[in-house]
Parts: sequence; structure tokens; C-alpha cells
Amino acid sequence: MSKKATLQYDGQSLELDTIVGTENETGIDITQLRAKTGMITLDPGYGNTGSCTSDITFINGEKGILRYRGYAIEELAEKSSFMETAFLVLYGHLPAKEELETFEAGIRDEAYLHYGMKSHFEGFPDNAPPMAVLSSMLNVLSCYNTELLTTATKGPAFELPASRIISKVRAIAAWAYRTSQGKPFMAPRTDLSYSGNFLHMMFSQQFNLYEPLPEVERALDLFLILHADHEQNCSTSTVRMVGSSHASLFSAVSAGVGALWGPLHGGANCEVIKMLERIHEEGISPRAFVEKAKDKNSPEKLMGFGHRVYKSFDPRAKILKGQVDNVLKALNISDPLLDIAYELEEMARSEDYFIERNLYPNVDFYSGILLRAIGIPVDMFTVLFAIGRMPGWIANWREMHVQSLRISRPRQIYTGEILRAYTPMDKR
Ligand code: ACO
Repeated sequence: MSKKATLQYDGQSLELDTIVGTENETGIDITQLRAKTGMITLDPGYGNTGSCTSDITFINGEKGILRYRGYAIEELAEKSSFMETAFLVLYGHLPAKEELETFEAGIRDEAYLHYGMKSHFEGFPDNAPPMAVLSSMLNVLSCYNTELLTTATKGPAFELPASRIISKVRAIAAWAYRTSQGKPFMAPRTDLSYSGNFLHMMFSQQFNLYEPLPEVERALDLFLILHADHEQNCSTSTVRMVGSSHASLFSAVSAGVGALWGPLHGGANCEVIKMLERIHEEGISPRAFVEKAKDKNSPEKLMGFGHRVYKSFDPRAKILKGQVDNVLKALNISDPLLDIAYELEEMARSEDYFIERNLYPNVDFYSGILLRAIGIPVDMFTVLFAIGRMPGWIANWREMHVQSLRISRPRQIYTGEILRAYTPMDKR
């Protein structure tokens, strides 16, 4: 028997069911609230609202726990590959050897872009923001896959668009970058890993193939693993919202890219580097910057700090922080921005302002330094995040259709003018 919650209002009372998840998170089921009371709940920003039940990702923000399908992120980061993690997130179990081989072959076979897409890339100006290009080109991809614009959740009708998107998003990202550089496109190499192939499409020249160090290839794979899913964040909720109208997977993930782009979400990884560069180039002391970030009259924020859900260390930030050192050592780079980041973190973690508000480094705080060391240009950072998040978006889109959820349609409390008579032009 589930526990009940009682709502009392205007002398009336209503018993509401509760729902308890497998990790004992409890929600009050208000699905009958409006039908029974005429009232709705109000929760701008959805901080207290569960939009679905989900089997994909578990986060405990107070304890800094993140698990995909029950597996700890720390263990996946150490032992898994992005392809294996993508399979896990999509299908719910770690793949057996043959399953992984088939999945990887499906991704490999889909690495190419239709040559017709070249002309679409050529239509963008050189300085087009890569996230805008990515979002547009995911919709363009749907134009080359009109037979796959369904809501299928199993069999080839789901597996094919899922693999196509996960694979081709890399080529779209790399082509967008090369277009902005005025460089010719580089065809994918099917002998490389998922991450290795992406680095090749980004950085190889016709007679000078890019050979990443194993540490670099592994670091990128790890970055993608850490971004593979993060339950009902802004972009994933957008993907579900768009998908709930039975729009295709292509348009749902294209919308997800739009939501991820913002500096309060995935765009924060660019903003962190811009902030560190500004501190470095303008000779601002980390102390002065922290003071500004605390000042309510200043627009400055400590980018890469704070999270809606994590009220302790973001476990992804911990893992990335450890990885940054490895990559810098392997590449024999010393990055002054890393020292500034360490200093900012140390200061923020001992300041009451940040302690009282539970503001800890999030995944974006160290990821930019890692990507910069690999040679990824700053405006491509959020694109990399989108590549990593693709399995999570697709898994959430699929889960929503498996559960046959209704179209997402929040309500509102109207606070505008009540009915008034139309004023003729000469009386206004
Ligand atoms: N620097 C300084 N102060 C901050 C910061 C920060 N980075 N983040 C939050 N605060 C303060 C707020 O001003 C607020 O203070 P107040 O209570 O005195 O008004 C308090 O902490 C609570 O912050 P909210 O903005 O209400 O928290 P919310 O959950 O709405 O926002 C968010 C979370 C958007 C991540 C916020 O912390 C932020 O803007 N961080 C910087 C951007 C960033 O790093 N985003 C990436 C998030 S991770 C991701 O999306 C992949």
C-alpha cells in the first residue's frame, strides 16, 4: 500500500497517492488534482516537479551520486567505452560481446554524411555558431531519412535512426568546424574508434593524417561517457517535450541542441574557458573575481559552479579534474588556466557564500581545460557535449514512447488583464 498525502484547501481535503522510486525518492501523484479540485500546482523552473518516471539515470544531488542504468559513473568512467555506455543507456543492459560488435558496426557503417548535405554546410557563413549549425543539420538529416520519421521504439525502425544520429552527429560537428575554417571535408575512417574517428574528421589533412595519442583518444571517450545522460535536465526535457507531440527523433534532438546551447546549461563549458582566459589576459586576481561573483550588483558569476540538482560535488567534475592532469602531462602542456581554475575552486570552496548555497564545481568547470588541451576550439565545446548527450536524449525519447506518455502541455496561472473592450485607434 502506498502512503497517502493529504491536501487541505478551502475546507476540503483530498487524498493523493504517492509513488516511491527504487532509490526511495518519493513523489506525490497529482495527476487527478485538476479534475478533482479545479486547481493546478505552480512550480516555475520545475524544481519540485517530476515530469516522468524513468529507468535510465539516477542522481542523488545531496550525496553526489550519478548512475546510468544502476552502474556508478566512476566505474563506467574507469572500465567502459563511450560505445558500450551508449548501448547501456539506450537499451538498459551492458552489451554482450556480439551485441557490442553489432552496435559498433552499425555506428561505423553510418559514419558518412550524404554528399547532398555538403551544399547545406556551404550555405552557412564562416562565423556561424556551431551549435546553430548542428541543430539545423540534424533537421536536415531528417530530410535524407524521410522513411525513418516514426515513433518506433524497437527493431530497425528505432535502431537505424538511433545509430545514424549517434554516428553522423560526429561528421556534422567536424564538417561544421571545417566549413568555418574554410577547409575541405575529411571522409571518416572506419578503422578508428568512435572518438578517434571524430578527431580524424576534425584535424586530419589530406596528406597528413591526425594520429591522436592514446591518452587523448581515451580522454575524449571519457568526456563523452560523462556526458551521456543526466536525467531530466533542460535539454533532455526539451527532447521529451518536442517528442511528445510525436515529432521525429531527428527534430527532437535538434531541439535538444538548441536548449543545450545556453550558457546556463551546456554552453557553460565555453563560458568557463572565456572566464579563465579573461582573468588570465586581463590580470584579474582570482580573489577579485570571486568577490565579483558574490556581488549581487555584478553580472559576473563563477561559471562552472552550481547546479540545480547537485548540492555537493558533481561526480563528473571530480573525474574530469583527475583526467586533466593526465592529458596535460601526456601532451607535455602546462596550462596557466588550470592554475587559475584550481585557485578559484580552492577559494570558492572555503567561502561562506558558496558553502551556504552549496555551490560546487560542475562538469563544465574542468571539461573546457581538457577539451582545450586536446585542441578543440572553444566554440566547439558545447557541440562535444551534444555528441556525448545523444544516447541520453535518444533513450529518453524512446522511454517516453514506450510509456505512451501524453503530449507535454503544462498549464499556467493567468495574471494578465481581464476581459476589456477593444479601444478604437483614435481613443488610445
Ligand atoms: N556564481 C555565483 N553565484 C551563484 C552561482 C554561480 N555560479 N550559481 C548560483 N549562484 C547563487 C545565485 O545567485 C543564488 O543566490 P541567492 O540565493 O543569494 O539569490 C543561489 O546561488 C542559487 O542559485 P540559483 O540560480 O537559484 O540556482 P539554480 O538551480 O536556478 O541554477 C545554475 C543553477 C543555472 C547551474 C546556476 O548555478 C548557474 O548559473 N551556474 C553557472 C552556470 C553553469 O555553470 N551552468 C552549468 C550547469 S551544469 C550543466 O548544465 C551541464
